[in-house]
Amino acid sequence: MKPRNLTIKENELYLHEYSLTSLAKTYKTPLYVYDEDELHYKMQLFKKYFRSPLFETEVVYASKAFLTPAICDIAKEEGLMMDAVSLGDLSICKQANYALERIVFHGNNKSKEELEFAVEHQVGIIVVDNLYELRQLIAIAKEKEKCVHTLFRVNPGIDAHTHKYIQTALYVSKFGESIYDLETMDNIIQAYQSSSYVQLLGFHAHIGSQIKDMKPFLLCADKMITFTKEMEERYQMKLPYLNLGGGFGINYQESDPTLDLSLVLSKMIQRIEAKCKKLQYHVEKVFIEPGRSIVGTAGITLYECGIVKRTYGGKNYLFIDGGMTDNIRPALYQAIYTVDVANRMNEEKNLVVDVAGKCCESGDVIAHSVQIPQTKPGDILAVYATGAYTYSMSSNYNSLTRPAVILVGKKVKVISRRETLQDLNKLF
Ligand code: LLP
Repeated sequence: MKPRNLTIKENELYLHEYSLTSLAKTYKTPLYVYDEDELHYKMQLFKKYFRSPLFETEVVYASKAFLTPAICDIAKEEGLMMDAVSLGDLSICKQANYALERIVFHGNNKSKEELEFAVEHQVGIIVVDNLYELRQLIAIAKEKEKCVHTLFRVNPGIDAHTHKYIQTALYVSKFGESIYDLETMDNIIQAYQSSSYVQLLGFHAHIGSQIKDMKPFLLCADKMITFTKEMEERYQMKLPYLNLGGGFGINYQESDPTLDLSLVLSKMIQRIEAKCKKLQYHVEKVFIEPGRSIVGTAGITLYECGIVKRTYGGKNYLFIDGGMTDNIRPALYQAIYTVDVANRMNEEKNLVVDVAGKCCESGDVIAHSVQIPQTKPGDILAVYATGAYTYSMSSNYNSLTRPAVILVGKKVKVISRRETLQDLNKLF
């Protein structure tokens, strides 16, 4: 849940050699703080455990969890591919000089403009969502006379136990086409066979996010290998790639059951090796797409505390200077976070509060019924494991400006500056 470089010295929380209160003072609050080492460590862990002597592997960082040029640089350094889901994502990667041929391009309703950009700039792999998109892509590739490598997104129908908004592979999910819909599959393969530019290399599935159980990942590998082999035989074609998506869950509370990453990755590899051998399916390359599990626990958000308001009804609210604009997850998914007062680490936690943000919305609560020490305005609240889907889902509701993001290692780097009032006015 916390980066490994986090320590307590004399009542204060430290990341590397920096006290979090000093970072808050220097860079202001709210502030997204990322531990640089933790990002490298997690990427290296995926590279180390997701490999096999029998086939190539690619770890694709799912940039929707958190994307800035600095993260593109780290992914490049660690040899990870990146995913993108919009022209905006592609443009940030391009601006960061991240090679577009190392990008996997997703999206369930890609625009013509996005497809044209991807074909023109030879984005590595396009994951096609549906027949309409495939036909558009075929026409664009023909017109531009460019070869396009694709995977087709399928839905393997796996019920991963996670929040319903982030389940993606039930039969009614909007993503991809069902592996059981053979009529649609026939039409899709026919379309591919009609094109001399757009190549189908295999299938992609992503079964959901924040999955804490190993079984759905293994089941997904099984089902996808069986399906791919069936498709190879049915259509007499080679389908050498397999992409199993992301979804590895992280801990948001000390008491959470842990998904052991090294274990799940090793087990997935073993399962893929065994299943391929059994079915005599020759897979050349297997991709996975972790997002949250790379950046989630590397991030901490710092807020300055305001007053504690005790309501007539007896509830205590600790006010903070940010909220649902910098972290929508509690309001959207009932996500639970763990907090500490960064300058009162050794004090008795004898107060129960809801941590409430600044927005005009009762649902703007970052943490419910958490125990903290008595605070004073000006104290610094640290919220752990906020590295994934916070900055990337942030908003300007109530015209709040987006916080800065810093990367902390031996040195501190501002990797995204704080928004200003001029930024807010730039569209009008
Ligand atoms: N691949 C695909 C095709 C995806 O759609 C996603 C996430 C991932 C990989 C990465 O999943 P991860 O490893 O991060 O779980 N906003 C939600 C999560 C949405 C996930 C969207 N897709 C949240 O805050 O929980």
